[in-house]
Amino acid sequence: MSRVPVYEIDWLEARWRFDHEARDQGLIQHALAFLAQSDDPHIIDLGSGYGANFRHLHPEIPYPHRWSFVERDERLLAQSLQQIKIELALQATNIQVEGKHHSLLDPAWMDILNPGDLVTANAVIDILPESEAITIFQKILERGCAFLATINYLDMAVFPAHPLDEKVIGWYHQHMRQVQSGGGSMGNSWEQSLVRLRNNPQIQFLQAPSIWEIQPGDQAIQSHLLGFMEEAIGEMGHSLEDSEAFQLWLTHRIGALEAGKLSMRVFHQDFLALPS
Ligand SMILES: C[S@@+](CC[C@H](N)C(=O)[O-])C[C@H]1O[C@@H](n2cnc3c(N)ncnc32)[C@H](O)[C@@H]1O
Repeated sequence: MSRVPVYEIDWLEARWRFDHEARDQGLIQHALAFLAQSDDPHIIDLGSGYGANFRHLHPEIPYPHRWSFVERDERLLAQSLQQIKIELALQATNIQVEGKHHSLLDPAWMDILNPGDLVTANAVIDILPESEAITIFQKILERGCAFLATINYLDMAVFPAHPLDEKVIGWYHQHMRQVQSGGGSMGNSWEQSLVRLRNNPQIQFLQAPSIWEIQPGDQAIQSHLLGFMEEAIGEMGHSLEDSEAFQLWLTHRIGALEAGKLSMRVFHQDFLALPS
């Protein structure tokens, strides 16, 4: 079974603080040093959602610049632009923003790339199919742009440990790769898929961990994550035995969440690729 996921604002807002705290500041400063060399500083944010990259990065750019948001979800794009324009009006800054309603899988969006642009993508690489992600990566660098891709999912751990953790998290990863996004998303295999590009001597490739540290009091995000796992694993058509095992695990995890005893670590990596 396959479906195209819709990203709700309450989920994007719930994850904002965790992304914000986990992002690697060293890579961001490298990326902004690249942007600062441009005569026409332009950031192109892929899969911009509700504007998380804008909100994280623009306070760190003290000069006039432009943003283009490339997003396939028209409703989310319109809502984020409306919110960003309100914030910009209050700040009286010299920042221009525009929305591009496009799928990243349609190469037409790449027409806006110019040398010296910074392309960003937060929590997007792992939901793309491998061949399209490789094309996007190569085109960005061929055009003389830098690519900052943050919060790329690798793995998770749930505490206190449970004997079924490995099995359940393995199913969740399988779902990411095979079911989500109409099938064929890279999921947590993105690192292997991009390794060839990472070893290309024509580019400078920097990578750093960006880990969510979810504490027992962070019940809202825990509840989102358990809900995603329940939905994902429910779509996989498991045997009765495996479905019962999952329900056992989930009941145990919800009990711990409600008792304020659940914590989680979600492992991501950020990377920055700079053209030679
Ligand atoms: C996990 S959300 C991240 C949103 C935002 N970057 C953030 O950090 O909050 C993934 C975003 O990518 C968008 N997206 C997924 N596939 C896409 C595609 N093929 N083309 C354009 N946008 C896409 C989704 O609509 C969603 O807004």
